[in-house]
Amino acid sequence: MKAWSWDRYGPPEVLALKDLDEPDIGRDDVLVRVRAASVNPYDWRHVAADPKLVRLSIGLRRPRPGLVPGADLAGVVERVGDDVTGLRVGDEVFGEVRLGSFAEKVAVPQNRLAVKPTGLTFEQAASVSMSAHTALQGLRDVGRIAAGQRVLVNGASGGVGTFAVQLATMFGAEVTGVCSTRNLELVRSLGASDTVDYTREDFTARARRYDLILDNVGNHSLGQLRRPLTPRGTIVIVGGLASARGSLLGPAAQMIRGALVSPFISQRVHAISWKPNSTDLRFLADLMEKGELTPVIDRTYPFDELPQAVRYVEQGHARGKVVITL
Ligand SMILES: NC(=O)c1ccc[n+]([C@@H]2O[C@H](COP(=O)([O-])OP(=O)(O)OC[C@H]3O[C@@H](n4cnc5c(N)ncnc54)[C@H](OP(=O)(O)O)[C@@H]3O)[C@@H](O)[C@H]2O)c1
Repeated sequence: MKAWSWDRYGPPEVLALKDLDEPDIGRDDVLVRVRAASVNPYDWRHVAADPKLVRLSIGLRRPRPGLVPGADLAGVVERVGDDVTGLRVGDEVFGEVRLGSFAEKVAVPQNRLAVKPTGLTFEQAASVSMSAHTALQGLRDVGRIAAGQRVLVNGASGGVGTFAVQLATMFGAEVTGVCSTRNLELVRSLGASDTVDYTREDFTARARRYDLILDNVGNHSLGQLRRPLTPRGTIVIVGGLASARGSLLGPAAQMIRGALVSPFISQRVHAISWKPNSTDLRFLADLMEKGELTPVIDRTYPFDELPQAVRYVEQGHARGKVVITL
């Protein structure tokens, strides 16, 4: 099968299209013919091994041979393992893997897949998993969102942010989205009743108070983030779009600081590490089927142009999701 792989850590251009063996499937796995995959910051971080911590899981000096990057996918079931129940050959599915979706075929554990809603294209379905899962679990499980709360989403126009604004609105919160001038209208259209243009105003200096801050950007210290938070409010640390390149820990540094500070203050500071699972995927699929959640797709690239797609996401200004099609 054709698959993207890389032999040394570096910029997206180190990715090369190769002929690799089709992946083996375990008893609980499903072999999916990929029709679309989406690109996350997670992907360029793996390709570049940035932060350096990434090397611990995929190779200290260079990526282990034959590794394929890519997490999110949508496609058609081609084969199922002996213990797979509920999915059959020919089913259209979406979900995610730890690595491997930037290929014609990928083996996926059945509990990381769900049936694709019929009204959704493969491109839309491929754009859901990591971003929407993170937004959902960040707001609901870590942030314990409740109706009537004031919720601020920093980085509201990106992959996670566009889902988070919609989901927080759906949970009955009053949502403020932080984005740049060109994205104000988009973020309002997703349900935010208030927006902050980060090119003109720093939301941490505002008088307004929030019960929950979902931070995708990491461009403020914890002290700054706590200022606009209610005394019992919660900060959910999602990511570090603004974190320095080439460091050992990257966005994990803020997460560790949060864990150290949280026990000693009245406010809660928690990091989210998304956990893919088919229960949440089915919950998200149901919302999309009802028209209550819509993926925002910025750009679609053909499979052959994957390095350009990864490069675009790496620049940090995607509006919603970037998808590749096969
Ligand atoms: N913890 C987890 O489990 C988990 C899971 C998924 C993702 N993440 C992390 O979460 C972060 C966000 O992911 P993503 O997929 O949403 O990224 P993304 O799609 O690449 O985000 C791009 C968006 O961020 C906006 N942005 C850039 N700088 C900003 C700033 N200073 N203030 C406000 N918005 C800004 C950009 O808007 P402009 O063009 O207007 O600047 C753009 O729309 C990443 O660091 C990612 O690695 C963590």
